[in-house]
Amino acid sequence: QGITIFASGAGSNASRIIDYFRNSTLARVCLVICNKPGAGVISIAEKEGIPVLIIEKERFFKGDGYLPEIRQASTNLIVLAGFLWKIPHSLIDAYPRRIINIHPALLPKYGGRGMYGQYVHESVLNAGEMESGITIHYVDEHYDNGDILFQTACPVLDTDSPESLANRIHQLEHLHYPLVIDDLIKSLQ
Ligand code: GRF
Repeated sequence: QGITIFASGAGSNASRIIDYFRNSTLARVCLVICNKPGAGVISIAEKEGIPVLIIEKERFFKGDGYLPEIRQASTNLIVLAGFLWKIPHSLIDAYPRRIINIHPALLPKYGGRGMYGQYVHESVLNAGEMESGITIHYVDEHYDNGDILFQTACPVLDTDSPESLANRIHQLEHLHYPLVIDDLIKSLQ
């Protein structure tokens, strides 16, 4: 099975997913799609010999967008890992329940448009939450909205800054995202 990762940032999750599936007999990362030239994820993928496609907004949201390239790479599952654009209808229709995203909070709280990066953790801290966590969910046409596949929580400490909370959450993401993808791929077979 082919996994295409969509990422716009540093790519730490993409890196863990690539590592995890490097020796898998079930699946491999076949393509990385990125909308930000120069993003960290690009060099991570290139070092692994994984093809990278840099995409442009105008084409992404028009007609079939990049569907031909995504299909050409033998993509069975699309994994968003820090990808900040909405996913167009054409892609959702072409990959029904085969597009997933990870969000660094316990949805449905702290999700939706504009809820990304440090702002999510700042909001959790400002609200005085005792816990936060990660959510892995199917992608539909709204931000952070599809059915939830997996959630796990971690404590929020009195001494936390947005950075320390972000670090704790990143560790949860790195541990669980590859495992959830692995389970999903097994269920698709
Ligand atoms: C992750 O925290 C993810 O939950 C969010 O964007 C971040 C991406 O980080 N959607 P990285 O690029 O994988 O390091």
